[in-house]
Amino acid sequence: MTATIRTVAAHRAAADLFRTLTGSAPAGVWSAPGRANLIGEHTDYNDGFVLPFAIQHRTFAAARLREDGRIRVASTFSPEPVEVTLAELDALFPSAGAPAVAEWAAYPLGVAWALRALLPDGSGSSLAGVDLAIASDVPVGAGLSSSAAIEGAAGSALNELWELGLDPVALAQVGRRAENDAVGAPTGIMDQMASMLGVANAALFLDCRTLETRSVPLGFAEAGLEVLVIDTGVKHAHTTGGYRERRASCERGAAALGVPALRDVTVADLPRAAELLDDVDFRRVRHVVTEDQRVLDTVSVLAAEGPRAIGPLLVASHASMRDDFEISIPELDVAVDTALAQGAIGARMTGGGFGGAAIALVDHALVGPVSDAVRTAFADRGFADPHLFTVVPSDGPRRDA
Ligand code: GLA
Repeated sequence: MTATIRTVAAHRAAADLFRTLTGSAPAGVWSAPGRANLIGEHTDYNDGFVLPFAIQHRTFAAARLREDGRIRVASTFSPEPVEVTLAELDALFPSAGAPAVAEWAAYPLGVAWALRALLPDGSGSSLAGVDLAIASDVPVGAGLSSSAAIEGAAGSALNELWELGLDPVALAQVGRRAENDAVGAPTGIMDQMASMLGVANAALFLDCRTLETRSVPLGFAEAGLEVLVIDTGVKHAHTTGGYRERRASCERGAAALGVPALRDVTVADLPRAAELLDDVDFRRVRHVVTEDQRVLDTVSVLAAEGPRAIGPLLVASHASMRDDFEISIPELDVAVDTALAQGAIGARMTGGGFGGAAIALVDHALVGPVSDAVRTAFADRGFADPHLFTVVPSDGPRRDA
């Protein structure tokens, strides 16, 4: 199935699930996209720079207000709907550690909770209840922000139904709050901003300290280039282990250097960082500091020379994640090395790491040969079959019906 057909199917699945849940039609269907990150990994929670783009894969939320103060969420991820009163959300969240409800339900319920928390004291109690049915064609656990897509779709639906009038940046902040405090994943704001502010054929240059954004034309199609996603099928989760440890290293690094965040450290400061930090924390810091610079360089190179010139920056980013930040896995390294050996212009793992996907920037004519070579390389090493598909820089949230 092509992505467009799958996306139509996900739209229909959300509307159908809503009918099964409630016996009637939704008031509307809202959707938000997943994202791929072109460059700028683990820089967002360090107040740094990122350059992601929204993709054509989307999550749909079919929704309608209810007469009572209950919120009920259903999804095609799980047969069991979850239903609570809006007032009960305040007892569920913020959840210490593991989410207080089934993990998939913590995303939309966390968004509802975070939206209510924005309202002046007391006015949250006047909000009507809501039924919400969710379906998605964003691959889960692939590092393509299926979670931000759920938050964006649910947030867009509730924003309109509750007549809150929030702008996309405010909705991105609501999504991040849900992810951090309802799901318990200590992530930055890149994914939610990429989903909420996506623009077709462009990447989003985001300063994660000020939340200032700029749309950066990519020109991939005009240059005859495709972004091939190589999903290793190795699932990752950012609620546990490695992601949290990497954040802690970055915070120790910033504290030792006497700055609010690693954003305030430059490549010229690295020799001093080497004196102050142990080897592991130093390498974590070096990744973040050099990655911030690579994002800025990618933006300049795209403008000055076009997309064919950014390959070395993507390759250097992957090496830094593999060797300094140590968040790659053998499957991702084989995906990147094989794509490059077959003539990809650049390739790197994308997203939080420890599994998930790599992206490769390849000539249109090389999509087939690179895909075949990656499949063969995975089979030779006894890795599970990878999932390969191309993604297109796409628009952000919308109301679909
Ligand atoms: C995950 C998080 C983001 C970001 C990336 C790494 O996708 O959700 O906030 O930290 O990892 O760049």
